[in-house]
Amino acid sequence: RNAGPLSGRSIVITSGPTHEPIDPVRYIANRSSGKQGHAIAEAAAKAGADVTLVCGPVTIPEPGGVKVVRVETAREMLDAVKAALPADVAIMAAAVADWRAEGTFGQKIKKDGSGKPPALKLTENPDILATVGNSDAGRPKLVIGFAAETQNLIENARSKLARKGADMIVANDVSPETGVMGGDANTVRLVTKDGVEDWPTLSKQEVAERLVAVIAKSLKEA
Ligand code: C5P
Repeated sequence: RNAGPLSGRSIVITSGPTHEPIDPVRYIANRSSGKQGHAIAEAAAKAGADVTLVCGPVTIPEPGGVKVVRVETAREMLDAVKAALPADVAIMAAAVADWRAEGTFGQKIKKDGSGKPPALKLTENPDILATVGNSDAGRPKLVIGFAAETQNLIENARSKLARKGADMIVANDVSPETGVMGGDANTVRLVTKDGVEDWPTLSKQEVAERLVAVIAKSLKEA
């Protein structure tokens, strides 16, 4: 058994995008690669934690030493996270699709010759971070979310912290020119109720290691 700083702690981590089916061949998705979430899972496992990684459809390799649960949709991700609880820490790094198609089509949607595109009606997905962060019974000691934004980074992160009942938000700018989405580096700002900590540009592995150190310290102080 690993005697690292997170030894004896259980952590559930979400990673990657979700895919929300429209019909048997089409889906709604986003550009998340899963690199940051997977790096956190790997760093936490190396630190001795008992890690469950709930991940959406990704093409990167599974990290070693963690239990991987593969899902496709936001609703499946929520169910898998609930099944992994109770845990000491929840880190929601997945880029969950905010909306899914309201009704899915059993057959591939065809052009009907009218020249009019079909209307796609969307409905909101459950918010996994908010569900876990705002839960009463069995809430993890530490609930951490991400805020990937293209504008008003800190303002949005602060409001997420409150609204989703999180203890920390890892905020990052995902504007296309930053290359964060799908890239190997990340520049994050750690937002807690006590303030904002600016981290330098680091590899996603380094961000993961630093976050693991913050978690270990915070659990020790709790
Ligand atoms: O609201 P927004 O999607 O920007 O919030 C991002 C944070 O919330 C991330 O931690 C993400 O994993 C989490 N989230 C979630 N379920 C959703 C939407 C977001 O867990 N349906």
